Amino acid sequence: MSERITLRVTGREVQGTNVVVLTLCAANGETLPTFAPGAHIDLHLAGGLVRQYSLCGNPDDASHWQLGILNAQNSRGGSQAAHLLQPGDEVQASLPRNLFTLTLEASHTLLVGGGIGITPMLAMAHALHQAGRSFELHYCARSRARMAFLPALDAAPWAAKVAYHVSEEGETCRLQPDALLVGAPANSHLYVCGPEGFMDWVIDKAESAGLAPSHIHREYFNREPETGGEAFEVVVPALGVTVQVTQDQNIVEALAQAGVRVKVSCQQGICGTCIANVLEGTPEHRDSYLTQEERDANDQIALCCSRSRSPRLAIEIFELD
Ligand code: FES
Repeated sequence: MSERITLRVTGREVQGTNVVVLTLCAANGETLPTFAPGAHIDLHLAGGLVRQYSLCGNPDDASHWQLGILNAQNSRGGSQAAHLLQPGDEVQASLPRNLFTLTLEASHTLLVGGGIGITPMLAMAHALHQAGRSFELHYCARSRARMAFLPALDAAPWAAKVAYHVSEEGETCRLQPDALLVGAPANSHLYVCGPEGFMDWVIDKAESAGLAPSHIHREYFNREPETGGEAFEVVVPALGVTVQVTQDQNIVEALAQAGVRVKVSCQQGICGTCIANVLEGTPEHRDSYLTQEERDANDQIALCCSRSRSPRLAIEIFELD
């Protein structure tokens, strides 16, 4: 199991519609581990739920972490549980993990956050500013009332680099990605986070503007992993179990039919709760938890969504429910 730390909530503020900004310190009073801009932590919430939230404070400040959490309408309980946290409460968290790496080598960086997708961009803006790099931050939302972090953005030493795009304030206020991307200096990098449709729109414009795929960086949340595929066999030697995973099942479901209940949380390939070791065979990775390096090693698999390229996969399960 991944290493956990205990955090204490030291600040809670509702900002914008349905967004709570939590300030968290180490419960033992020590400084917190450092994190890279773009990193997230897993919060272990009431009801056994594990959810991922981007660290949105200044990466150079190890005295506290900050999270911005939207109480999403389609929440499956995680953001609701996080919104119940109050100052003084303790909560378990993973160490920071980064799947949205910022390069400091770009000639210019475009940070684009839609709605709660602003959170990783804040940490990135701090880092780019501290490194003296050229950047601009575009914060998009339907209305100003929905926007969190406005006081912090106004007070940031890089406030002049922030542009606000508010749909309700008319066409001229909306993000114009064509103009933004076509006019960007050569060797610019784009980072985008937000609702899936918004991200796909911005990325599509970036590709049309000729930005190299390696210069387009994205972080999805709540993305349904791809489903379906060829049937295959899964063996769990330690339990003496062999199951067939049919075309329309995932491994967790197939194992449950055989009485093996794997511990899961997000069931979207995001949190890593269901990660197992691969002893034999080649996984087909469909999660967004493992890093590219971990995927290439092919010795771990997210059982809730990934499948097998080989007809047989032998695995070692860490946590049963
Ligand atoms: S349950 Fe979250 S990655 Fe599988």
